[in-house]
Amino acid sequence: MNRLKDKVAIVTGAADGIGLAISKALAKEGAMVVMTDINEEKCTQEANLLLENNNNISTLLCDIGDTNSVNTMVNTCIEKFGKIDILVNNAAVAIPGTITNMPEEDWDKLMNINLKGAFRCIKACLPHMLSVKQGSVINISSTQAHRSWDDWTAYAAAKGGLLSMTNQLAGQFGSNNIRFNSISPGAILTPMNQKRVEEEGEQFLKGSINQAPMLRLGKSEEVAMTAVFLASDEAGFITGEDITVDGGLCTVPRYFE
Ligand SMILES: NC(=O)c1ccc[n+]([C@@H]2O[C@H](COP(=O)([O-])OP(=O)(O)OC[C@H]3O[C@@H](n4cnc5c(N)ncnc54)[C@H](O)[C@@H]3O)[C@@H](O)[C@H]2O)c1
Repeated sequence: MNRLKDKVAIVTGAADGIGLAISKALAKEGAMVVMTDINEEKCTQEANLLLENNNNISTLLCDIGDTNSVNTMVNTCIEKFGKIDILVNNAAVAIPGTITNMPEEDWDKLMNINLKGAFRCIKACLPHMLSVKQGSVINISSTQAHRSWDDWTAYAAAKGGLLSMTNQLAGQFGSNNIRFNSISPGAILTPMNQKRVEEEGEQFLKGSINQAPMLRLGKSEEVAMTAVFLASDEAGFITGEDITVDGGLCTVPRYFE
């Protein structure tokens, strides 16, 4: 409790899945959490539940695929709370496709949200972090950036881009006391993956589970607690780091038939 007292945090894609779990975990540690999402109704509904439990929560509609929407969200946050200590770039879409069959429009749509969305949010928040020489930016990447799966060319490329951008910015802004880190989740049971179970059947679940030594899907809360650590002063000397939360998938992948 209170590891993030007096901190103001923006979380994108906060209405569901990992973003919602991160919002809850940051609030539980005392942060003022600004939950932002394109799905305003669900975001408000979840925020109201958290408000009932005395959490400091505010919601703002934001489409990270749109520069005006991001700038308005960040400006409103500054007007209301005066600062931004923590930015969690979580929102993303999962559009499958290999390089041979993916229409260019799908590539552009995915890149605009999953990679450029983080660029937009960082660009808008950075001046406010620089002015007080303090900030923690957490980019949610994926194990897709580290390993190869068929059918996820653009998604993996965007997640790899996020890792590189995290490193570049960590190097550039370390002396300003602004830390940039990323988290690479493995297969986590969220609505995003629930949809894949429905579309691809049990085969998807079996394949995901069997590849990692811990033989299970991860929980959103397990990713969220890693975000709390990276956001907190406990991680005050950690920057340019990627933490995989994947049951060992990347470090000790299993062979299976
Ligand atoms: N679930 C997994 O197994 C897994 C694994 C690795 C990485 N990730 C990453 O974790 C993050 C969260 O994934 P999730 O599984 O919780 O996803 P999810 O689909 O369950 O939730 C994503 C949220 O983002 C919002 N969103 C989508 N487009 C948006 C936009 N343009 N602007 C603002 N909000 C938008 C959605 O409304 C939704 O609330 C993503 O970056 C995803 O790539 C997930």
